[in-house]
Amino acid sequence: MGRKEQAKNRAQAHIAVWKPQPGPQTALISCPIFEVFYGGARGGGKTDGMLGDFAIHADRYGQFARGVFFRRTYKQLEEVQYRAQQIYPKLGAIWLKGEQLWLFPNGATLKMRHLWDENDAENYQGHSYTWICVEEATNWPTPNAIDRIRATLRSAHGVPVRLRLTGNPGGAGHNWVKQRYITPAPGGFTKLIDPVSGEARVFIPARLEDNPALTLKDPGYERRLLQAGSAALVKAWRFGIWDIVAGGFFDDVWNPSRHVLTPFEIPANWRMRRSFDWGSAKPSSLGLWAESDGAPLEKLGLYFPRGSIIRVGEWYTVQKDMQGYVKPNVGTGLTNKQQGAGVVSMSQGRKWSGCVADPSIFIKAGGPSIYDQMREGAREAGGMIVFSKADNNRIAGWQKMRGMLEVSAKEVPESPGIWIFENCLDWIRTVPVLQRDPKKPDDIDTEAEDHAADETRYAVMGGGEKQQSTEFRV
Ligand SMILES: Nc1ncnc2c1ncn2[C@@H]1O[C@H](COP(=O)(O)OP(=O)(O)O)[C@@H](O)[C@H]1O
Ligand SMILES: [Mg+2]
Repeated sequence: MGRKEQAKNRAQAHIAVWKPQPGPQTALISCPIFEVFYGGARGGGKTDGMLGDFAIHADRYGQFARGVFFRRTYKQLEEVQYRAQQIYPKLGAIWLKGEQLWLFPNGATLKMRHLWDENDAENYQGHSYTWICVEEATNWPTPNAIDRIRATLRSAHGVPVRLRLTGNPGGAGHNWVKQRYITPAPGGFTKLIDPVSGEARVFIPARLEDNPALTLKDPGYERRLLQAGSAALVKAWRFGIWDIVAGGFFDDVWNPSRHVLTPFEIPANWRMRRSFDWGSAKPSSLGLWAESDGAPLEKLGLYFPRGSIIRVGEWYTVQKDMQGYVKPNVGTGLTNKQQGAGVVSMSQGRKWSGCVADPSIFIKAGGPSIYDQMREGAREAGGMIVFSKADNNRIAGWQKMRGMLEVSAKEVPESPGIWIFENCLDWIRTVPVLQRDPKKPDDIDTEAEDHAADETRYAVMGGGEKQQSTEFRV
């Protein structure tokens, strides 16, 4: 055998062991685009596709191929490792347990790692990789950890570097994944350019139909999949539908056709209140609420039981990219004084009955509290703010909020409910998709973008009425 032929054989060593199936897996392994989001449905051959994709990368670039395969938790990684154990040893790769990596005969390496959040990502600073897979990207509530890891993709040896992500609808990261990879071209196979980095990315959709290796071997899989969650979620998983509110804490009560209202004029005698959740690196959220006095709005044909609250406006400090898309959960870094001034400017034109706020902003740690500084900013802006500590009992607050949303989803609400004006875009974007805390199902995952929800919870728990007399009209 000549050297050329030997090289060719080596370059195709994977073929006898693992072949891509026709369709998306084949598209994946031949895709020249830097960043690929692959999948979008369950059982589409994602994990196999990724393991195979690296085997090919390893064949091609030998010792210069340096890969990392990430899942969010160690436990989830075991599932991948189980399949890797079936494929990689047949290619002559050995598992180095101490280093948790696959060493291929030609020197290529694949680390198997879990990556919980940005802090974990810090550990990779200064590393260089040529191939990274982030499996089940919707498990990450924000893209932050993944975006940090992105910077490690580089090669001093001219290897074209690759970033691969997979995922299904649902999960804590449903929103950002959908916005980044699906919404710009829902059918996929369209090259997208990141407005900030200029890097190219593409969505390669894969469904169960594209994975006959599974459906032939395990005809019961589809039936089991259909029993694995709520009807909406199962449909989303099966068919790769992203236009759902999936797996959320408020899933079963949220009904936008009932909860979201076209703005109308609030009667002058209704009590107006506010609620505030502080943030700087993360967004802060100010909710403006009108409280119904229970009298029907006859001209409009509307009725809100006495004590119902309607979110009529909001001030949400979230960063946006050059195209105007929000950067989920990234704040605008306003100072406390600027936030105080912002609250004043948002409170123009109406008389407000206090504002309940995140209790932690009242803490004085040897100096002025965040609240003190906000008040100073408000004063400098020519106004005055008077906040009071919100009742921060999380479980009771969520329960009350869910109960009120349940009421307002009914055709004829009979007790106080919550409604949202359609101009409250950040509330509508973030609250309905909040996830349960996997460890405390009565609570919300605090890693998600929960700021508008938190202040809504403060608002439903009430309090703060007494400030009315001390705060002057601004
Ligand atoms: N190219 C392939 N060759 C052989 N079997 C495959 C291939 N792709 C998928 N499979 C089979 O289908 C199963 C499910 O695919 P998997 O990649 O785990 O799907 P997903 O990660 O999308 O849920 C795998 O465990 C494997 O048995
Ligand atoms: Mg998988």
